[in-house]
Amino acid sequence: PVLVVDFGAQYAQLIARRVREAHVYSELVPHSMPVDEILAKDPKAIILSGGPASVYEPGAPRVDPKLFEAGVPVLGICYGFQAMAYALGADVDKAALGEYGKTETVIDHAEGLLAGSPAEQTTWMSHGVAVKTAPAGFEVLAHTEGAPVAAMQDTTRKLYGVQWHPEVRHTPLGQKLIETFLHECAGLGSDWDASSIIEDQVRKIREQVGDAQVICGLSGGVDSSVAAALVHKAVGEQLTCVFVDHGLLRKGEAEQVKHDFVEATGIKLIAVDASEDFLDALKGVSEPERKRKIIGEKFIRTFEKAQRQVIEEAGASGKEVKFLVQGTLYPDVVESGGGDGAANIKSHHNVGGLPEDLKFELVEPLRTLFKDEVRAIGTELGLPDAIVWRQPFPGPGLGIRIVGEITRERLEVLREADAIAREELTKAGLDRDIWQCPVVLLADVHSVGVQGDERTYGSPIVLRPVSSEDAMTADWSRVPYDVLATISTRITNECRQINRVVLDVTSKPPATIEWE
Ligand code: XMP
Repeated sequence: PVLVVDFGAQYAQLIARRVREAHVYSELVPHSMPVDEILAKDPKAIILSGGPASVYEPGAPRVDPKLFEAGVPVLGICYGFQAMAYALGADVDKAALGEYGKTETVIDHAEGLLAGSPAEQTTWMSHGVAVKTAPAGFEVLAHTEGAPVAAMQDTTRKLYGVQWHPEVRHTPLGQKLIETFLHECAGLGSDWDASSIIEDQVRKIREQVGDAQVICGLSGGVDSSVAAALVHKAVGEQLTCVFVDHGLLRKGEAEQVKHDFVEATGIKLIAVDASEDFLDALKGVSEPERKRKIIGEKFIRTFEKAQRQVIEEAGASGKEVKFLVQGTLYPDVVESGGGDGAANIKSHHNVGGLPEDLKFELVEPLRTLFKDEVRAIGTELGLPDAIVWRQPFPGPGLGIRIVGEITRERLEVLREADAIAREELTKAGLDRDIWQCPVVLLADVHSVGVQGDERTYGSPIVLRPVSSEDAMTADWSRVPYDVLATISTRITNECRQINRVVLDVTSKPPATIEWE
């Protein structure tokens, strides 16, 4: 494999993902792994990731110079580049001019790692410390105002480093650099794709599950459907899917999921109506994180209750369900504070919302992947477009789209407004252009309106159409005005108590996609 050594937070997975995009297999390892163990994995190349530390800080993660003597091609990125330079005796300047964001970068030698590069490149930087002189044996390839050594290489030892982040899209030639490193510098072929990920996961799932019974929490969305299809490929009839109606679904959703999923996959599905239970538990709650925790816990309790039925129907009496499959993706893990050193932005119901006394062991075959990769796998597994290209809908459903307390009446109103927005966006042919369009009810906000010569005092509905590649960042979608106008007119005419429709024009960051 190519090993990506993780020096912290969100970027390491992004690098692993870019390596997969170059059709090369990669694995992530923590920086605390001893060099001997790293080398024992027989890596074909190593990438040292960026990270939040500064090489001079006490306790900053260091790289053992032994790593550079093994003859394995190494690429250091940002912090990984500085740690490499430092370990090999370079002069690292603490008082350098910091560079954050887009940076004009002068290419001094368009060779090796930078072969074919134009004389100047825009790169995305984030550093406050700079490498002043390259270590002995290295050639300086590029510089910027704040970084005298912005890229370097020693082709004899196959060691390479860049101060910038080639893994982010803001570095236009970043993917090219990663591919040059993998294919030219390290001489690796391109043979890793969706079908290899499937083979690899099927093997891992079989190893983990053995002959035990497995249930999958199925929402009908792309993540849980692909996870279910993968597990089904691995262990067949040992899998039963459980679809929970928590009372927070969209209009017509329960029927549609039950029908589409079973038709497309033939996987056993049990549907449970737990809406009373969920809505009772949510009574009087308006704080978003509490809602998320309650919903996360209720899901698990519902799966526990469904266990008996699953066992009976599988004719496996005496056995119990040991595993729970979830379609958790990497962004869910990071935002729930699951990345190494990452902050908790919100508790995604299937990660941060899990109860502590969880009795199931989790099977999460998509945990290191991003949504567009999961879609590619879904297609490869033969799932229909209706499932693979379904827009994301959060597990906690409409529960996190009512700002304020959740009541049946409010759900009714929101469900109607959401159905109208979806219908009109589909009619306008915008389903693939927008990532998703949350429709949010600001239940505790009231404003004055006039309808049929009467004064009204109703609540606003927010439309939140966004475009995104992987939900980590997003921009508000420029939906045509006439489509917005139709949605607005229909919602105010057809939804009781709604006298205003507003458009959310904020990107992520600083906002998130959902309001809670
Ligand atoms: P945010 O609001 O964090 O949303 O910008 C990013 C993406 O994740 C979805 N989302 C969730 N999905 N369980 C899920 O399955 C959750 O708890 C959850 N919270 C947010 C959201 O719809 C968007 O696509």
